[in-house]
Amino acid sequence: MSAFISISDLHKVYRVGGGMIRPGQPLHAVRGISLDIEKGATYGLVGESGSGKSTVAKIVMGAERPSSGAVHIDGRLMDGRSKSLSWLRTCLQPVLQDPYGSLNPTMRIRDLIDEPLRIHRKDLTARQLILRVNNLMAQVGLPSSLALRHPRELSGGQKQRVAIARALALSPQCLVLDEPVSALDVSVQAQVLNLLHDMQSESGLTYLLISHDLAVVAHMSDHVGVMYLGALQEQGPVEEVLASPRHPYTRALMAAAEPERGSLTEPLQGEVPSPLNPPLGCVFHPRCSAASERCRRDAPLLRQVAPAHWAACHYA
Ligand SMILES: Nc1ncnc2c1ncn2[C@@H]1O[C@H](COP(=O)(O)OP(=O)(O)O)[C@@H](O)[C@H]1O
Ligand code: SF4
Ligand SMILES: [Mg+2]
Repeated sequence: MSAFISISDLHKVYRVGGGMIRPGQPLHAVRGISLDIEKGATYGLVGESGSGKSTVAKIVMGAERPSSGAVHIDGRLMDGRSKSLSWLRTCLQPVLQDPYGSLNPTMRIRDLIDEPLRIHRKDLTARQLILRVNNLMAQVGLPSSLALRHPRELSGGQKQRVAIARALALSPQCLVLDEPVSALDVSVQAQVLNLLHDMQSESGLTYLLISHDLAVVAHMSDHVGVMYLGALQEQGPVEEVLASPRHPYTRALMAAAEPERGSLTEPLQGEVPSPLNPPLGCVFHPRCSAASERCRRDAPLLRQVAPAHWAACHYA
């Protein structure tokens, strides 16, 4: 199998608090992420807020440039030039968290859905556009009676379906889903996730799915990557990582996602440290109940603990 998305040793450093003369302080938002996503598969990236997930998504979508490292999409190196960006638009589309903010409130639903087609597919006739919008609305489970409505007249779940229909308009091969259901009620979350799942079974879409909620990622993904302070702490096939998590941070996220299981692991204490001043040694040590002297001194490397299963803990 070939990887549709391949990320190698990706770093992103922002400069914060700088001025005209002083260069700002470096904020290492992503530190050396490598991962492959197979065609037609779902890779779930999970971690608390601030762990660098959206930065990875923005780089994959071409909205940010990496400080170092490389992203290949379908074998093609993304170099940030306009040629590779316009190619990227045709094969990869984002679906973002906020179905309220991302849809222009003055536009009708059908105009929102056919906008990408009107911009990028000038060859389509008016009649073809109408047919395509009708198809897209049916595909995402929106009744055609909503075509002439405005976003404010729709529920949160319906708005996220509009965002998905828009993303599908140009028939991409891949969706980057950054917290796609976080703004929705729990009951509606499952409906939207099931829609995404069905769409993938039908058309072989590749998904990079990002969520702070391990339950969402576990439900949808083939592979999972657990991020903390910009780095992958654990990575592997989802069943295996959930059945035998090797990193204390993964275990803590599992305990937080399923408190009723009566897990032996304590839920997470304290806050994520600032990436401007990350802890020495293992970045997780101030919150880790298994931390030793060695953890405070030496940073663990991500190492293979089973075939395709990696963890960054001295005691994994
Ligand atoms: N444009 C930016 N400038 C400066 N810092 C940023 C910028 N974008 C994100 N960050 C910082 O990078 C870190 C990772 O952010 P983000 O990728 O949004 O994490 P997540 O999506 O996991 O919540 C955070 O500390 C955030 O404040
Ligand atoms: S290396 Fe040490 S501090 Fe880090 S996760 Fe493992 S046990 Fe905890
Ligand atoms: Mg985010």
